Amino acid sequence: MTSALTILITGANQGLGFEAARHLSKYAHIHLLVSGRDSVRLSEAVSKLKADEGCRAVLAEVVMDVSDDESIKKGVASVAGILNGKALDVLVNNAGMANEAAIPTLGLRAVLRQTFEVNAFGAACTTDAFLPLLKKSAAPRVVNVSSTAGSLATISKPDYTFPPLIATQYAQAYGGSKSALNAFTVALARQHPDIHAVCLCPGYNATSLNSYAGTMDAKDGAKIIVDYALTKKGVSPGFYNAAGELAW
Ligand SMILES: NC(=O)c1ccc[n+]([C@@H]2O[C@H](COP(=O)([O-])OP(=O)(O)OC[C@H]3O[C@@H](n4cnc5c(N)ncnc54)[C@H](OP(=O)(O)O)[C@@H]3O)[C@@H](O)[C@H]2O)c1
Repeated sequence: MTSALTILITGANQGLGFEAARHLSKYAHIHLLVSGRDSVRLSEAVSKLKADEGCRAVLAEVVMDVSDDESIKKGVASVAGILNGKALDVLVNNAGMANEAAIPTLGLRAVLRQTFEVNAFGAACTTDAFLPLLKKSAAPRVVNVSSTAGSLATISKPDYTFPPLIATQYAQAYGGSKSALNAFTVALARQHPDIHAVCLCPGYNATSLNSYAGTMDAKDGAKIIVDYALTKKGVSPGFYNAAGELAW
């Protein structure tokens, strides 16, 4: 266990986080902390991972709602207990949501708030809370699951079209929250040069977040998350998709 790489993935009970956990669960040297906000859904997901053929990693469950500071605090305590003095090497901030369709009923401010709470503030506050455990690592890394929709350089091009889910008259909430996540990542990398921090876009995957309208299978989309979780890749701060570097 001394050579184990410890990796925590938030929002890993379904979608890209789950598929990333499934890939990572095949490696015997990995101590994988699978996180989700609902204990029942999380346990079901971890049971599936354990039952999957070739599961060789050590798996643990961490209940954590990234929009709730008390829950994050409990999550940190739980991880500290599980790791028992060991470092957290890699934090994958994957938990995310989109709810643009609700803007006409809930209002723009409400949807901006709920989206930023999870996608931007959630990732920033989770990272901040895990800093003491990350700093115990000889080579700590933060992998933030962002989106091309948060790339200002990309979406400001006249030929860019938003994915159908957020191509309503309002596209500010989801994309804006990912731009904020990117900004937080750059700030983190500058403030903590010892932490290697990257943002990733996994592509347009069929998951619950987009009512399964995505064109990729999450099993494939998750591979970039796996690549950057397994080894130190790219520059910090950097923004990548499967084809290479993305402009901020
Ligand atoms: N799908 C795409 O095309 C696409 C493209 C670019 C980026 N992304 C990003 O990829 C990440 C994963 O999304 P996905 O597509 O796999 O969607 P998904 O299947 O809906 O998974 C989202 C995960 O985040 C969790 N989550 C939501 N709010 C949370 C909270 N407050 N605390 C903790 N966990 C929370 C969900 O938990 P519950 O199951 O409890 O709801 C779920 O496990 C997100 O950051 C998303 O923005 C997705």
